[in-house]
Amino acid sequence: MPDVLGSALELVSAWAGRPVTCTRLKGGLSHQILRVETGQGDRWLLRVLDPEVSAAGLGIPLDLEIVNTVRAAGTGVGAQVLLRLPGAVLLEYIDGVTLDASAVRDPAMAPHVAEACRRLHSGPRFATDFSIFRKLEELLGLCRAHELKIPEGYEDRLPVVAEIEAAMDARPAPTVPCHNDLLPANLIFDGRRVRIVDYQLSGNNDPAFELGDIAAEADYDAEMAGRLTSAYFGDETPAARVQLYLIMSNLTWTLWFSVHHGLLAEHAAAADFDYDAEAAAKFAKATRDLDDPGFGRLIDDVRGRRRL
Ligand SMILES: Nc1ncnc2c1ncn2[C@@H]1O[C@H](COP(=O)(O)OP(=O)(O)O)[C@@H](O)[C@H]1O
Ligand SMILES: [Mg+2]
Repeated sequence: MPDVLGSALELVSAWAGRPVTCTRLKGGLSHQILRVETGQGDRWLLRVLDPEVSAAGLGIPLDLEIVNTVRAAGTGVGAQVLLRLPGAVLLEYIDGVTLDASAVRDPAMAPHVAEACRRLHSGPRFATDFSIFRKLEELLGLCRAHELKIPEGYEDRLPVVAEIEAAMDARPAPTVPCHNDLLPANLIFDGRRVRIVDYQLSGNNDPAFELGDIAAEADYDAEMAGRLTSAYFGDETPAARVQLYLIMSNLTWTLWFSVHHGLLAEHAAAADFDYDAEAAAKFAKATRDLDDPGFGRLIDDVRGRRRL
C-alpha cells in the first residue's frame, strides 16, 4: 500500500503545517501502524487500514470501523480521531505502555481493565453488531469455501458450540458497544488508566464476551477471570458465562488465524508472525477447557440449572 501511505503522509504534513517523519510500530497484526512526528516533538498515530483484511472477513468494513473508532474516542477510552484520510486515520498518540499478557494478569491491573470496559460499554452504541457464534460460522464458511487448513478435529467440536450458544440464549444479556478483540496489545496503560485501541472487530455484544476474550488472550486461570468478573459486574455471578466465552474466544480466533494464514500469506510473511502456529495454539487451549471435567457445570450454571 505504498500509495495510500505516501499520500496520507502528505496530507498529515499539510494538516500539521510542517514536515513529518514516520516510524512503523511493531505489534499490529493487521494494518500498518506508524508514529508520525514533527521536528518540534508533536506526534500522532497513523493507522493505514489494509482493505484486504476486511475483504477477507477479518474485520468490519473500514468506514464502519472509523465510525466506531470515533464513538469510542468520545468515551475517552479510545484515542481521539484527529483526521480521516482516504484509507487511513490519524489518531491521538497515547503516551503509555502497551500491555503484554503478564501485565494484564497482574491483579493490580484488573480494576483498570474493568473500568476501561465499563466506560466503553456505557458509551454510544456502535454502528455494527457482533456475535462470536456468527463470527465462528462466518470464518468457518471462509475456510470451507477456500479449502483452508484448519486444526485437525475442529469440526468435531461444532456440536458443543451449539450447546454453548443454546445455554447463553436461555438468558440472553442486553448488548453494549464492545471492542471484541481485547488482546493485551490493544490495551495501553498511561500511568493512570487503561486506554483501548484498534476497533477492527467492534460491535454491540454481550459484555461477558469482552471479559472472556480478555481472559483468553491473557491466559487467565479461573481465579483471575473471577477477579475481573467481580471488578466489572460487582460480583462473580456471571463467572460461568465469562468462562464459556473464554472458550468461544479461543475456538473462534483459531479460525481467524487459519483464514489469515490461508488467505493473506504475503501479509503474514511481512508481519513476521506465525499465524498458523497461533491457530494451533488457540485450538489447543479451547480443547483443554472443553475436555475439562468442570465444563458441564459451566453450561448448567449459564442455563440456570444446577446439575444434581
Ligand atoms: N493511538 C495510539 N497511540 C499509541 N500507540 C498506539 C496507538 N494505536 C496503536 N498503538 C500501538 O500500535 C500497536 C498496533 O496497533 P493496532 O491499532 O492494534 O494495530 P492492528 O490493527 O494491526 O493490531 C498497538 O499494540 C500499540 O502498541
Ligand atoms: Mg491490534
